[in-house]
Amino acid sequence: MKFDRISLAAWSFVFVIYLLCDSEALFKFTNIKCNCFEQSFCEFKKCELKVLGRGIVGLNLYAKVNKLPIKKAKVVLALFRRFNGYRPFLFNVSVDLCFFLKHKKRFPFVNMVYEGIQNFTNANHSCPINHDIIVDHMVLDDKMISKAPVPNGFYKLSINVQTDGVWRDEVDVHAEVNLGFER
Ligand SMILES: *[C@@H]1O[C@H](CO)[C@@H](O)[C@H](O)[C@H]1NC(C)=O
Ligand SMILES: *[C@@H]1O[C@H](CO)[C@@H](O)[C@H](O)[C@H]1NC(C)=O
Ligand SMILES: *[C@@H]1O[C@H](CO)[C@@H](O)[C@H](O)[C@H]1NC(C)=O
Repeated sequence: MKFDRISLAAWSFVFVIYLLCDSEALFKFTNIKCNCFEQSFCEFKKCELKVLGRGIVGLNLYAKVNKLPIKKAKVVLALFRRFNGYRPFLFNVSVDLCFFLKHKKRFPFVNMVYEGIQNFTNANHSCPINHDIIVDHMVLDDKMISKAPVPNGFYKLSINVQTDGVWRDEVDVHAEVNLGFER
């Protein structure tokens, strides 16, 4: 019986090491959906995930904006966690995009999302936005969530954009968090 305990301990050890080594799979995209409600305003030329390497998934998005410039827009960011369907989780916030771009620190949740995207998008400057919106090879990094209270699981971030009081488009991004241990 002693042998069994030792082998069990050995296996647990191997298992933990395995999970720690598999750190590439910590935080990654699993799905993306883009929906433009009005072609006169936008068109998604690209909305896809691409595997860039083992456990590394890049997000590419090209939103053609047919009504430029964007001087005022409302953005609603809602996070969901999968638990018998997707349930609201942590934040559901609405911001004036141009005001946010000038006062990022005032919106911690929105800023957390923005900081994750800003190196990969051409829309990382203050208003007006006078061009199509591109996100190129965006990858998730576990550092992005190291300070956020997100347990292992499957998440959905829903981004809705409204201009002139009309909902224009919706982008749903799904991601998995797997730290290899619970925290
Ligand atoms: C987010 O909040 C808005 C009100 O600000 C509400 O209308 C909307 O239903 C909420 N969305 C979710 C998913 O809870
Ligand atoms: C963005 O780039 C800056 C400067 O190169 C870097 O310090 C930061 O970690 C990057 N952020 C992400 C999310 O890649
Ligand atoms: C804005 O995005 C471009 C790539 O589109 C990048 O080269 C630049 O470093 C980004 N600027 C900031 C402040 O993140």
